[in-house]
Amino acid sequence: MQDNDALGRYLNGRVRNGYLTARLERENGGGEPVFDREAGTLHPENLALSRAGLRLFLRVSGLYRRGQRNARRLHVRDHALRLPNLPAGMRGFRLLHLSDLHIDVDAAFADELAGQLVGLEWDACVITGDFRYQTNGDPTPALAGLERVRRVLDGPVYAILGNHDSIRMVPAIEALGIRVLLNEGVVLGDGQGSGIWLAGIDDPHYYRQHDIARALEQRPASMPVLLLAHSPEAYREAADAGVDAMLCGHTHGGQIRLPGGLPLVTNAVCPRALTGGAWTWQELRGYTSVGAGSSVLDVRFNCPAEAVIHRLDHRPQD
Ligand SMILES: [Fe+2]
Repeated sequence: MQDNDALGRYLNGRVRNGYLTARLERENGGGEPVFDREAGTLHPENLALSRAGLRLFLRVSGLYRRGQRNARRLHVRDHALRLPNLPAGMRGFRLLHLSDLHIDVDAAFADELAGQLVGLEWDACVITGDFRYQTNGDPTPALAGLERVRRVLDGPVYAILGNHDSIRMVPAIEALGIRVLLNEGVVLGDGQGSGIWLAGIDDPHYYRQHDIARALEQRPASMPVLLLAHSPEAYREAADAGVDAMLCGHTHGGQIRLPGGLPLVTNAVCPRALTGGAWTWQELRGYTSVGAGSSVLDVRFNCPAEAVIHRLDHRPQD
């Protein structure tokens, strides 16, 4: 963990004035509360009593073990992601999309996840936030787990922070060879001088220090934009900024769904259609991953953990 001065020096030139102070102030509050006064939203899932009650119900009903097994079995999905004006050299480019690893849920999970990622074929990997299980506390176990996962990711990896992640984790994440995009962007190229602008913003759900305009500032003219945002809640801002496509996570797709697929909680202020899988909103295309890990409880029902391989395409899918 970095002290504030060292962190400021590390991020010097990458973040706007006041960003670090505002981020740390909100972090010092201890993570998302049951009632977020600033956003005016209620989060009953953060109530220890809710977690304990749900765990007790699942244990008494004999469902807990099954839910744990569901949470640890990764489904790999293929998805064609349309980007209009995609350069010819990027057609068919494969993006492995991981989200919401919550990797320190227990000591075994990182190796189990890593084992399920071995052998997947992709060109670049993006991780859309939430490395840590808790919203605060020591990130060392999450960073150690991430190191084990990074070892099997044989290619470039880009990431953004989620509402469970501390800005203090950035230097250690980047030391693993994972480029964190803090309201920044990079060219994801085809090696022939063309590519797409891969932009990433800070968590728009709880920390709300995200800045899409800043993430697009360095974008070469007319280059298609793919935005990484932890939560789909930034959808309006992304559409207004002219983003072509957006990859996100955060909702876990509900993590526990009723038979038929209805999520009990999604923890996101946005249309239900945006809380899991592929979606469109006006001209904006998006995909919200239901996540590879779990939080609140280490169980999943009717909502399998997933890794998504997005294949970039310039043609309409329907
Ligand atoms: Fe999450």
